[in-house]
Amino acid sequence: TWGAVPAGPPDAILGITEAFKADKDPRKINLGVGAYRDENGKPYVLNVVKKAEERITAAKMDKEYLPITGLASFTQNAAKLAYGADSEPLKQNAIAVAQSISGTGALRIGGAFMARHYPHIKAIYLPTPTWGNHIPLFKDSGLEVRRYRYFDSKTVGLDFAGMKEDLKNAPEGAIVLLHACAHNPTGVDLTQQQWKELSDLVAEKQLFPFFDMAYQGFASGSTDRDAFAVRHFVSQGHRIALCQSFAKNMGLYGERVGAFSLTTQNEEEGKRVDSQIKIIIRPMFSNPPLHGAHIANTILSDPELYQEWEGEVKGMAGRIINMRERLYDLLTHELKTPGEWGHIKSQIGMFSFTGLQTEQCKALAEKAHIYMTMDGRISMAGLNGSNIEYFAQSVNAAVRG
Ligand code: LMR
Repeated sequence: TWGAVPAGPPDAILGITEAFKADKDPRKINLGVGAYRDENGKPYVLNVVKKAEERITAAKMDKEYLPITGLASFTQNAAKLAYGADSEPLKQNAIAVAQSISGTGALRIGGAFMARHYPHIKAIYLPTPTWGNHIPLFKDSGLEVRRYRYFDSKTVGLDFAGMKEDLKNAPEGAIVLLHACAHNPTGVDLTQQQWKELSDLVAEKQLFPFFDMAYQGFASGSTDRDAFAVRHFVSQGHRIALCQSFAKNMGLYGERVGAFSLTTQNEEEGKRVDSQIKIIIRPMFSNPPLHGAHIANTILSDPELYQEWEGEVKGMAGRIINMRERLYDLLTHELKTPGEWGHIKSQIGMFSFTGLQTEQCKALAEKAHIYMTMDGRISMAGLNGSNIEYFAQSVNAAVRG
């Protein structure tokens, strides 16, 4: 029956973890997947998550199904976190929000909703480069995928002029995917001034802003600051789509906690939209999982835990920034590795887009047991005091060939 099914390639990101696990060398380092590691290279369960779980266990909650759009108190709190407590559409009950299977699930609900209900051109513009999964995800959702320029490899920075030009040339009404903060894979974000300019351009061209916010808190250490783009667009009267993930900022990776939302004209329109989101979710996965949503909700709804959580997010973001500085120093000053490495310090969020070429990435895996995606992206959180020198020396060797 399946004789004609060809073997597919391993996933560009998750496939790296498989290769890493199969490697028996004790020096091996996994810088592939964007998952936080502590100073000892171990996965990190946040203290607030442990506390929330204790409370959940003590409350002896049942295991009944959640409603189709999930735990209502969680989705309200998630919306408040993203849009801000004083957000107009939030105050007017004009945000249709559903719990999703993390950020990917949110994107998938959103893609399906746009493909079915968006009344204008069903094409979505993605930045080049973007998170690899965006491309098949939106195609599988039934949207046409197009691209806009984003990263300039010459300056190792944002190609804002190219981005604006491509969006100006997009057909009126096109959907544009925007990484709200900590752009994956480049770590290069727009400045607040550039976001303002972009908001005007999006209004002029009547584009539809579709935000992916997978790293709120991870860019600057402040959940409010990282929500600037989303809140600015909403304050300017844009109707937006928003995908949220709690994988990174609460370390809830495998719990699959996220939210998808659409801002609407008013409460009545919001209710109609909500009814259609339900119609999309029910045949997709019926209703979302319970446990992770209770964890996130416990943290978001308790002022003390919330404050502690903000501290822990800052702590994770801070450790990553320290690793950026240390790596820059090692390459630039200690090893005098050819090339300019300033971008390692200026890039934002979990990743650094090193500029290493595919051949060099392959050599690092084969010779040094260091795993990263083949576009030269490294997850900074995989580095720590014990392995950063070995990593820098290996990069130095790979660059010198
Ligand atoms: C990543 O880019 O490494 C993360 O978003 C994890 C994933 O699912 O790809």
